[in-house]
Amino acid sequence: MAKATFTPQNQQTESFRLLSGHTIPAVGLGTWKSGSEANNAVCTAIVEAGYRHVDTAADYGIQEEVERALKAAMHAGVERKDLFVTSKIWCTDLAPERIHWSFRLKDGASRPPKAGEVLEFDMEGVWREMERLVEDNLVRDIGICNYTVKKLHRLLTFAQTTLSFCQMEMHPGRRNDKMLEACKKNGIHVTAYSPLGSGSRDLIHHPTVEKIANKLNKTPAQILVKWALQRGTSVIPKSTHPRQDQGEHTSVWVGNSKGRLPNTIQYPRSETSV
Ligand SMILES: NC(=O)c1ccc[n+]([C@@H]2O[C@H](COP(=O)([O-])OP(=O)(O)OC[C@H]3O[C@@H](n4cnc5c(N)ncnc54)[C@H](OP(=O)(O)O)[C@@H]3O)[C@@H](O)[C@H]2O)c1
Repeated sequence: MAKATFTPQNQQTESFRLLSGHTIPAVGLGTWKSGSEANNAVCTAIVEAGYRHVDTAADYGIQEEVERALKAAMHAGVERKDLFVTSKIWCTDLAPERIHWSFRLKDGASRPPKAGEVLEFDMEGVWREMERLVEDNLVRDIGICNYTVKKLHRLLTFAQTTLSFCQMEMHPGRRNDKMLEACKKNGIHVTAYSPLGSGSRDLIHHPTVEKIANKLNKTPAQILVKWALQRGTSVIPKSTHPRQDQGEHTSVWVGNSKGRLPNTIQYPRSETSV
């Protein structure tokens, strides 16, 4: 567990303003697959590396560890009002007050789901219940993740409470341009998840990323985080290793116009899925 005491100078991240008027720190900490390291990783990230934004979900099985880490960080002096915590409810639990992906799954469904395991869901009913969470002051903002442009447009026809943000997979190998554009047109903030490629694409060791990193004297992770920030999205790289003590992800030239990436990172077509 982190031993350092928080001082305001530690805070390094800039924020994006949401339609609701609240702000979301530009760089957050992802926690998927953090397992037993989640408690230490989250607390260290907040107290030592200056993170104020943590992304988690019921499906990650670590919400208790995250809760313990948040309490420890607050004990060290971080104020709750400065922390932005995102959570999601998994598809099999999808009832009109719960949401993670934009479809519902049968109980016990495989991953990825097989034919017949994906069910229709009551989008309006779910959204109304989520709006109630805001009315009851249980959450500050509500949003969506893994949506399509079509589903987004449908949701916007009946949403009464501001749809603050949308979370989706985004990195140079999966740009999701159409959905990003649709969100921007509607003032919806976007958070990019799996920004480092989540291992499967290994963008950290991609020759193009490595080349740009060497040229700019940055790490590959910093290039990928910057790529996301430069598109106007917040970004939530997951990290359980001590590298986060050095603020590698949170100190990526935020606010430094000279630090813009020279060009969009170009990938071979076969790697660009959207
Ligand atoms: N809404 C959704 O459906 C959804 C889906 C997927 C993910 N997410 C969220 O997005 C977060 C991030 O996505 P992700 O976990 O898929 O993957 P990611 O952030 O793209 O990559 C994480 C991997 O990169 C490694 N890594 C981190 N920093 C590094 C660095 N500076 N140099 C080299 N390697 C580094 C991590 O290692 P170590 O952990 O060993 O440090 C981990 O193996 C998740 O944790 C989750 O919170 C949301």
